[in-house]
Amino acid sequence: MAIKAVPRVRSDALPLRTFKASGRRSAIAGVGVYAPERVLTNFDLEKMVDTSDQWIRERTGILTRHISEPGTTTLELATKAARAALAAAELRAGDLDMIVVGTSSPDGPFPSIACRLQDELGAPGAYAYDVLAACSSFVYGLAQADAFIASGRAQNVLVIGAEVLSRMLDYSSRGTCVIFGDGAGAAVVRPAPEGAGFLAWCLGADGRGYAQVTCGNIEKGAYAAKDANPFIDMVGPDVFKFAVDIFIRQAYAVCEEAGIQVGDIDLWVPHQANYRIIAAAARRMGLPMEKVAVNIDEYGNTSSASIPLALEEALRKGRVKTGDHVLLAGFGSGLTWGAGLLEWV
Ligand code: ACO
Repeated sequence: MAIKAVPRVRSDALPLRTFKASGRRSAIAGVGVYAPERVLTNFDLEKMVDTSDQWIRERTGILTRHISEPGTTTLELATKAARAALAAAELRAGDLDMIVVGTSSPDGPFPSIACRLQDELGAPGAYAYDVLAACSSFVYGLAQADAFIASGRAQNVLVIGAEVLSRMLDYSSRGTCVIFGDGAGAAVVRPAPEGAGFLAWCLGADGRGYAQVTCGNIEKGAYAAKDANPFIDMVGPDVFKFAVDIFIRQAYAVCEEAGIQVGDIDLWVPHQANYRIIAAAARRMGLPMEKVAVNIDEYGNTSSASIPLALEEALRKGRVKTGDHVLLAGFGSGLTWGAGLLEWV
């Protein structure tokens, strides 16, 4: 483990922690996704709140988002994505020994979605828990899978990002309701074939920024205050600047740890929060957009589901080949960040 200073450090920025993969290496053996059928367009939103297709398109790059029917659980989305990932990896649920679900929209404080998913899938005995690192949750989950596989504590791990964020949106607040959508994505992580797999990680948090993205009255305790329908709130422009900065810094940090150049990245799969955030960071990293996975236009920001949704699409479109350097990178409420660099199987 190393704590590094990397380019473009803001005066208030924390040093970044990076970790080189050690022990048995792990790789992604299959990816699966699910998004609800119902699509909410910018034109639909124009009728609901004081906004315009042009503003949303130009300021965020979002054209549509998938929205669950009322009453849909996060578990339902997670289960569909999980089954698709298991099929892609040709693995039986009964062979799983660890399930990690990243979510910012759990169906309740407990039990975890992971435990209910373990039951749904039929993976008895697998240890199962949820991770809450907001939009960084999927990468945090992958990093835990990698560490457990490296240490021999797990063999077959299912990592999921699943969100029903629409139930946490105030559809009279144009600053948030146009941004977010629902969806789920899952990856099976297994020991890597020789020469492939995860090379390095960068994980971190800066709790000084906790108030920049919140859900409900956290100062009073949203649950304690019986805040039954807490809504997402954020300081958009501050998060925007943090996001561009951390995307760039963690890309440099994780590449340095792995011993490659940022220019050697074949595909960058960033958290899909705003097209302008992604494009600004890519430009400053010198990465052409052909090397960036973007599907925010269809899904909006699906928090922990956005990276697997973008990765699965890139795989389906044949944009990833054996030996490619793929960088998965997230940031989110907390504030949190996480990036994992792997050599594709
Ligand atoms: N339609 C029309 N006008 C709007 C809308 C809208 N939907 N939303 C805001 N505006 C207006 C504002 O009221 C403001 O008007 P004013 O100048 O008259 O006051 C103007 O547009 C500019 O507002 P900003 O908030 O400065 O707009 P900005 O260009 O920063 O875009 C946005 C806002 C899209 C939220 C952007 O700041 C952003 O993407 N930030 C990052 C958010 C993010 O990444 N969150 C991820 C974390 S989520 C998680 O972890 C769960």
